[in-house]
Amino acid sequence: MKKSIFYLIILGLSLLHVSCAKGSGEEAPEEHTDTTTPLTAETLVVYFSQTGTTEGVARMIADITGGDTWRIEAAEPYTAEDLDYTNQQSRSSLEQNNPDARPAIKGDVPDMSRCRTIYLGYPIWWGLAPRIVYTFIESCNLNGKTVIPFCTSGSSGIGSSATQLQALAPGATWMAGHRFGAGASRDEVEQWINSLQEDNDNDNNINYNKMNIRVNGRTLTATMTDNSSARALIDLLKEGDIVIDMSDYGDFEKVGDLGHTLPQNNENINTQAGDLILYQGRNFVIYYGNNSWSLTRLGKMDNISQAELKELLGEGNVTVTLSAVRQ
Ligand SMILES: Cc1cc2nc3c(=O)[nH]c(=O)nc-3n(C[C@H](O)[C@H](O)[C@H](O)COP(=O)(O)O)c2cc1C
Repeated sequence: MKKSIFYLIILGLSLLHVSCAKGSGEEAPEEHTDTTTPLTAETLVVYFSQTGTTEGVARMIADITGGDTWRIEAAEPYTAEDLDYTNQQSRSSLEQNNPDARPAIKGDVPDMSRCRTIYLGYPIWWGLAPRIVYTFIESCNLNGKTVIPFCTSGSSGIGSSATQLQALAPGATWMAGHRFGAGASRDEVEQWINSLQEDNDNDNNINYNKMNIRVNGRTLTATMTDNSSARALIDLLKEGDIVIDMSDYGDFEKVGDLGHTLPQNNENINTQAGDLILYQGRNFVIYYGNNSWSLTRLGKMDNISQAELKELLGEGNVTVTLSAVRQ
């Protein structure tokens, strides 16, 4: 209840801000209705916008990147009553409360076969992307494309709105999203785009075959397994080191919570000293002895004997730090 009141105040302020901006001579957004023009640029800015804020950011992104734009429009346009967030029975409230709602899009989605990077923009509606954005994602094939979400809102962050969308197109590479306020400047948008480029450059320097493991003051390397679990772990390490408190189990392994869930690629394994294993999706295990179980391989520690590894890990608990190897 308190949360609703908070949102209402924030919404009121943000809508007031938008209407003031309009009144001060800001250009009304031009409607894009053409769904048939072929898209030629490698970058596409797709957006949904009802009061022009997201559209303003989308146009700046297109201008800075040289990308095409494509506007998601509802087959049945939203009226002011539809957008009334104070009414729990308004169209937007009903749609946002229904995870299965998929409002129809006007026209066909564009042919995006030539696009490699898609900026996807939307306003936050009750903490989420409007359901019509879900319709868009489910209507096109984003496999192999890089999707960069962005949103505008009164105050809410992009939060889980982007991760929910990501789950609808797991074949795309999703970059971290960004939230803009109503008064986003071109400088702010440009800085964000530049920071994406820097992240991308850093990613290109990551070695997916290797990982550093720091134990009791000594840094060792491991050779990673070629599977989605190991790649997901390195993707996490790109964001920063992972520190794991591990305990001893069964006189053959050290095990600790990774703090994240990774995809599993389980197989029957007879473990050897130095094997790095994922157990039940989120436990990181270093084996110094033998065990047989259905487990996921993550990698193997380089150049260390069983005796050395046992001594390094010690008898009880141990803290290890995993980090990415940059080329
Ligand atoms: C139905 C509805 C729900 C909204 N929910 C939120 C919200 O949960 N959090 C928030 O900060 N802003 C919320 N807003 C404000 C919009 O996110 C904000 O005004 C946005 O910038 C509008 O973008 P647009 O002009 O591109 O449509 C909501 C607006 C509407 C119409």
